[in-house]
Amino acid sequence: MKKKSESLKAVAINGSPRRGGNTEVLLKRVLEPLAAAGWETGFVQLGGKPIRGCRACYQCFKTKDSRCGQKDGVFEECLEKMLEADAIILGSPTYFTDVSAEMKALLDRAGLVAVANGGLFRKKIGAAVVAVRRGGGTHAFDTINHMFLMNGVIVPGSTYWNLGFGLDKGDVKQDEEGLRNMDDLGQTIAWLGRTLREGGGKPEQRVCAEPAPE
Ligand SMILES: Cc1cc2nc3c(=O)[nH]c(=O)nc-3n(C[C@H](O)[C@H](O)[C@H](O)COP(=O)(O)O)c2cc1C
Repeated sequence: MKKKSESLKAVAINGSPRRGGNTEVLLKRVLEPLAAAGWETGFVQLGGKPIRGCRACYQCFKTKDSRCGQKDGVFEECLEKMLEADAIILGSPTYFTDVSAEMKALLDRAGLVAVANGGLFRKKIGAAVVAVRRGGGTHAFDTINHMFLMNGVIVPGSTYWNLGFGLDKGDVKQDEEGLRNMDDLGQTIAWLGRTLREGGGKPEQRVCAEPAPE
């Protein structure tokens, strides 16, 4: 991530194993207006890298050190970037009407670490971005938003759901409406982040009731 003091930070995480594919194109399109507005932007490649699913050890509730009990490099990189970001943009291809396995592992583990540590993502901005050939994109979109919404993340709307249509690598570049949506989404996040900061920043990071491990 390029450092600029005091600038707002956005991270985009690509859950597609296909580098240079449709999800990556969409995510980078969202980052463009943010970079133009002076945000520090970062991109993390998650898809295709080894990441395990949550093993329900509840270590995160015991240690409360904002870490996951399992140590694997790409997860720790993603979590660190998510924790330091003002805006988290999670992207996935649609696989059988849902997110990729790597993205699901990140959602479960980062989501639980955030809950276990008193709401680490509260009042951050979050957006889901999904590449889809034909059907099921809104379900994948919902999967990502479910993690955001129960973690107190502020989820801005755009002109449609944040979907881009395409099958082969780069096909989404032909989806003009999808690309306009990503432009709008990036601009909206930039406006929201600036407005939140000008309004005095985040309220106290406190949750009313912390769920106990089962
Ligand atoms: C295992 C697998 C399952 C898929 N399932 C769906 C699906 O349910 N619906 C759909 O419209 N496209 C589906 N697709 C197509 C991808 O979502 C589509 O090609 C997308 O643009 C890929 O994004 P990427 O280029 O970032 O990898 C599937 C592709 C794969 C490899």
